[in-house]
Amino acid sequence: MTTIQWFPGHMAKARREASEKLNLVDIVIELVDARIPESSRNPMIDEIVQQKPRIIVLNKADLADKQKTQQWVAYYEAQGYQSLAIDAQHSKGLKQLEKECQALMAPYFEKQQAKGVKPRAIRLMILGIPNVGKSTLINRFVGKNQAITGNKPGVTKAQRWLKIGRNFELLDTPGILWPKFEDPDVGKKLALTGAIKDQLLHMDDLALYLIDYLRQYQPNTLVDKFKFTTEQLEQETTVNLLLSITQQMGLKDDFETASQRLVHDFRQQKFGNLTLDVPYVSVNLHE
Ligand code: G4P
Repeated sequence: MTTIQWFPGHMAKARREASEKLNLVDIVIELVDARIPESSRNPMIDEIVQQKPRIIVLNKADLADKQKTQQWVAYYEAQGYQSLAIDAQHSKGLKQLEKECQALMAPYFEKQQAKGVKPRAIRLMILGIPNVGKSTLINRFVGKNQAITGNKPGVTKAQRWLKIGRNFELLDTPGILWPKFEDPDVGKKLALTGAIKDQLLHMDDLALYLIDYLRQYQPNTLVDKFKFTTEQLEQETTVNLLLSITQQMGLKDDFETASQRLVHDFRQQKFGNLTLDVPYVSVNLHE
């Protein structure tokens, strides 16, 4: 399969730009895709953000497996981060996100108040790889009350701030990080969820990955949709399953077109809500 390069130049630029912005804010909202929380993180994020308070926000929760989303949130919380799931497109979870930001800053403001300094608006920035929903979140967060609060000194480029109610100011341009996908599986997950361009990978690689995933974690979907037997799912190679699907689609041996259809169907939620990153730990959760 195609090897995808992660150019050091891109990395350095993304880091520099993110660090410039970091200096201006109180809290970083690290936005990831709930379907691939780990694969959509930049692996150097800890180094980039360092000690700055951060909330790991799993966006597009409406597309992900609900239980696995809860497990991922629990996992990040166990790692010492604040974390929550949202659906920015439908403005779900935004009030909770505001509350978590306030909770995160409360100790700082209490100290300041003890010194006689009045609490001020909390400054936020959104950071994440392309397509995780940064612009959508900014738009939904700010809504109609877009008000620019003026530039802050200290950066070469002028930064604009947007007001969210009375309590928050948000940098109007998010920090963009590069996804890292030396691991081919990470690349496939990024491509399946639309974070990287389709042209970077072969469709049949993506389709095979998807079939493998379904076979392992959601075999009933394959049984229902393509009438495979349990024995076939246990014994057949993934390539044979793809060939069988191709024939069922009436495409003879055109597995490239069949692969495209499978990937398209995944993106249209035809296989339901799938979380492709399997949670590292299984945490007992009550619905
Ligand atoms: P970015 O700034 O991080 O690059 O992402 P952006 O907001 O542009 O969002 C990328 C796509 O994801 C958009 O779809 C957007 O509507 C969708 N999106 C963002 N948040 C959510 C969410 O919570 N749930 C769902 N279901 N979708 C969300 P698009 O404009 O149609 O672009 P594309 O799908 O053609 O890439």
